[in-house]
Parts: sequence; structure tokens; C-alpha cells
Amino acid sequence: MTASHPRKLRLGVNIDHVATIRNARGGVHPSPLTAALQAEAAGADGITAHLREDRRHIQDEDMAAIKAGISVPLNFELAATSEMIAMALSVRPNAACIVPEKREEVTTEGGLAVIGHESRLADQLAPLKEAGIKLSLFIEANQADIDAAVSIGADIIELHTGRYCHDIAGRDSELVRLQNAARHAAAVGVECHAGHGLDYDTVSQIAAIPTIEELNIGHFLIGESVFCGLPEAIKKMRNLMETARRELQAEAV
Ligand code: PXP
Repeated sequence: MTASHPRKLRLGVNIDHVATIRNARGGVHPSPLTAALQAEAAGADGITAHLREDRRHIQDEDMAAIKAGISVPLNFELAATSEMIAMALSVRPNAACIVPEKREEVTTEGGLAVIGHESRLADQLAPLKEAGIKLSLFIEANQADIDAAVSIGADIIELHTGRYCHDIAGRDSELVRLQNAARHAAAVGVECHAGHGLDYDTVSQIAAIPTIEELNIGHFLIGESVFCGLPEAIKKMRNLMETARRELQAEAV
């Protein structure tokens, strides 16, 4: 894959924090399903939701309702526990994205530790693959983690962009790390996604990495929708992504 043939770039919208707001009052409003449907109508290529072990935002019934209601693919984020794997098997999403989870964290910190845990993870996650659910692993941007993910049968790797977004001083070197990792993913034939912490200011350089096929964005879009509405926020994000890809194509001509 060269810059002359960048792949199509999809936007997955993570609607977890609609549930965070709903849960603050314990009622039914705002509804994550309604947000997912609005996101789909506004051009989201997929919906992502994370069922955390502590159920701090998305609940079991949200996941089932979203899967039943949307027409675009569902990316179900989960920790590699037997409870969550059983949930994913019952919901049957398009993809299961395995993330590390610590109870005390505010959000998903760092990528999944795959190296050294290959055989345990392969055994635990095999039922997802056997059920026809694509296996995605949320990992740090380095070759060894990508190779370990591939060795246990990952169909997709999602690169953690949190450090790129939040460590402004280290951003340039982090971008190079993400570019190299995405290139390596293409070389070894695994689909490459990226996400975490992306906003209007950080999305363009990540969208310009030609071998990344999907960005998953949540917190910023839901926050921004307070000011301009979810459809508007999604449209602006998509425009930035598409502009970055168009510029890449123009550079290659
Ligand atoms: N990708 C993964 C694997 C995540 O865990 C998250 C956060 O739930 C995101 C993407 C989206 O991150 P953010 O909400 O910061 O956009």
C-alpha cells in the first residue's frame, strides 16, 4: 500500500458518553440508541460501544438494542473476560474490539498487553472468531504488538492514538510511530484502525496515514454535540477526514 492508493477511511462513532449523561440521572434520556441512529443518518460508517465490567455507561440492554436497531456494523468493545465474551457472543456484533480495562481508570489507558499472553488470549478469544465475529485488538503502535496480534488471529488492530492527542511535546515522534505501525500492519495484511482522544485538531494527520481504514471517535463528538448537535459534529469530522485523504491522493498524483 503506497500513498498513491490510500484506502477508504471509515468513521466509527462511539456513543458511550450518551449513556454516561443518561446514567447521571438514572432515567432513559438521552438514549444511546437514538444517538446511534442519528449518527448513522449523519454518515457514520459504524457504531462503537464499550460494555465495561462496571457498566458505568453502556448497559447490557443498550448493546442489544443498538445491535437490533442500526444498519451499519457494530463494533463491541470489551475486556477479555469470560462474562464479556459471552455477552459479545449473544449480541453478535460485526467486530469485537478487545481492550484492557482497569476499574479505577477514567478511560482506556494504553493498549492491550498481547506479548507474553498469546496462548491465553488465543484460547479465550477463539469462540468469537468461530462465531464469525471479527477480532480486533486495541494495541500500542509498535511492530512487536502487531505481530503478536496477528499470531493470535486478529483480523483488525486498532492503534491507540491517546498519546498522540495528549502529549503535545511528543506529538511528532508519536505520529512517526503511528505511521510506521500502520505501514507494518498493511505489510503483514491486518486491517488497521485507530482511535482515542481524536478531535477536530488531531484527526487530520491521523486520517492522512494511508493504510488506516477506520477511526473510532467518541468523547469529543458527544461533547461537541452539546454545542452543534451530533449530526453537525459528525459531518464536520468526516469533512476533515475526507479532506486529509483527498490531499494525500493529490500529493500522490
Ligand atoms: N477506540 C477504543 C478502543 C476506545 O476504547 C475508545 C474509548 O472508548 C475510543 C476508540 C474512542 O476514544 P474517544 O472517546 O477518546 O474518542
